[in-house]
Amino acid sequence: MAVVPTSLGGGAVSSHMTHFSGLRRSFLKLDSSNSDSTHSLFRDVNSHLRLVSSNKGCRGVVTMSGSGKFFVGGNWKCNGTGDSISKLVSDLNSAILESDVDVVVAPPFVYIDQVKNSLSDRIEIAAQNCWTGKGGAFTGEISVEQLKDLGCKWVVLGHSERRHIIGEDDQFIGKKAAYALSEGLGVIACIGELLEEREAGKTFDVCFQQLKAFADAVPSWDKVVIAYEPVWAIGTGKVATPEQAQEVHVAVRDWLNKNVSADVSSKTRIIYGGSVNGGNCAELAKQEDIDGFLVGGASLKGPEFATIINSVTSKKVPA
Ligand code: PGA
Repeated sequence: MAVVPTSLGGGAVSSHMTHFSGLRRSFLKLDSSNSDSTHSLFRDVNSHLRLVSSNKGCRGVVTMSGSGKFFVGGNWKCNGTGDSISKLVSDLNSAILESDVDVVVAPPFVYIDQVKNSLSDRIEIAAQNCWTGKGGAFTGEISVEQLKDLGCKWVVLGHSERRHIIGEDDQFIGKKAAYALSEGLGVIACIGELLEEREAGKTFDVCFQQLKAFADAVPSWDKVVIAYEPVWAIGTGKVATPEQAQEVHVAVRDWLNKNVSADVSSKTRIIYGGSVNGGNCAELAKQEDIDGFLVGGASLKGPEFATIINSVTSKKVPA
């Protein structure tokens, strides 16, 4: 039996012995040329996970694939004024946040500096967009270099509002992602289907096409977080059910396994967005392949955003 190294322990495990210390599978190096064994391994993983998750009421470690941390982003969109944003920052600064979560907020460009200078370093800053390359004669655009200069660590790209309201296409978005990554920013890469696409049974086709555009462009997936955001759920109060979200997250992970690599499939965090709030986050977070959230409206309320961040506890199992 092949013995493969794991990224977590630095040791070696048999590829038939799945190791878990949390609800998410740890890094498994699979032979992607053998999709049957991959699928049976995923089945093994899932049945093991059901056993683990039957231990109710326990707190312990969360170990997720690869970078290993739940990820919660707050997308403030085109909301706020200096005053409302300083109140939000002060609420976030006084919130008690679980330590094992990567937390990022994306203020409007004009408030990034204010937020960077007042928000706790515990929370990183993302931009909501960037230009496709180096700055220059591009009126109204913001370059990656300028974002880095302000202290941004991330950029949200491919958000449905930019795809469907502004008209950005897959290639344009891919170009931005490639440049941002080449300059060291992390990318929150958004994908998701319209309601009519879901109703026409095209959810996977649409998501895979958007994913492919990212895959064709990005030099590496190390600093990419995928946000699955069904467009019909964004800002509508109509959240996907945990099962609907999980189904797409598994399909996205499987697509990465088949089209990029088993390593990237295992390591890349796939977060859910679309009407996530303080009331529904815990049930969503329990899903095996939901590695965090991208939150719009509810991220404008500090205490509620903290509740969503802390929903990581619903993934915890005994150490
Ligand atoms: P929402 O937005 O939480 O307000 O639905 C999510 C998003 O657009 O990222």
